[in-house]
Amino acid sequence: MSDFLSDADFELYRKLIYDESGITFSATNRSILESRLKERLREKKLDSLTAYFALITKDHEELKTLLDSVTTNLTRFFRNQAHFDAIEKFVVPELVKMRGAGGERKLRFWSAGCSTGEEPYTIAMLLKEVLPAGWSFEVVASDISLKCLMVGKEGFYADARVQGVPENYLAKYFDRKPGGYAIKDELKKLVRFDYHNLKNDSGLRNLDVVFCRNVLIYFDEAAQKAAIERFWEAMAPKSFLFIGHSESLFGMNTRFEFVKTDWACFYRKFI
Ligand SMILES: C[S@@+](CC[C@H](N)C(=O)[O-])C[C@H]1O[C@@H](n2cnc3c(N)ncnc32)[C@H](O)[C@@H]1O
Repeated sequence: MSDFLSDADFELYRKLIYDESGITFSATNRSILESRLKERLREKKLDSLTAYFALITKDHEELKTLLDSVTTNLTRFFRNQAHFDAIEKFVVPELVKMRGAGGERKLRFWSAGCSTGEEPYTIAMLLKEVLPAGWSFEVVASDISLKCLMVGKEGFYADARVQGVPENYLAKYFDRKPGGYAIKDELKKLVRFDYHNLKNDSGLRNLDVVFCRNVLIYFDEAAQKAAIERFWEAMAPKSFLFIGHSESLFGMNTRFEFVKTDWACFYRKFI
């Protein structure tokens, strides 16, 4: 046990973070929480966890900063290519067929837990390539991390971070800048970044596709189930849900149907 974070303090902070975000800390990742708390105390020039707790109960911005600091933001362009193959080969053709007849011809995607933007920009680039003429789309990209949202909005990625982006996409959707690449404005305006905590209702409705990949893994089962229920409410009839390839709704008793295609597995809201 550490001198800095007693069992009682660990419980107090663990519960607060869980209640506020769904993010779950256990004995195995306790040291991460401890180091993030040390950083926050140093930053705020406070010398006790009790004083810091008093601060976050009245200062909502600082609470947001703490929540931001405990998130894991690893991401990359075209992460799990199989999902994007399934979007191109199965999901878009299905949606175009279903929504085409007399519909608005606009598809709505949500990247929930978008981190620094690589996922929603990948979706936007792919849709630009594969949607038939006469169709449009929008991608809403949300996260609980304000730092990540700022990076996404700015849309500048250092050289190392664009590895995995095909050459033709780099040429078409990015401008070369010193040390990296900037997303072109024409693509940027198709992605709307917004702060949103998956503990709450997003207010979004009628979505055709929701991506929530590698986010639920940080939640316990109750928080996962609550988030999944909210996705159901946000989604249109006959729409699709993608979660991370190491995540599953198995045993969760949701209304989503499991879909297995030649490219990838995902879920469908059928009704
Ligand atoms: C590992 S990243 C995944 C990024 C991207 N979806 C991907 O698969 O590459 C997880 C993201 O989920 C966000 N997150 C965690 N808890 C959240 C919550 N309660 N509400 C919204 N976003 C959350 C984190 O801030 C982080 O950016």
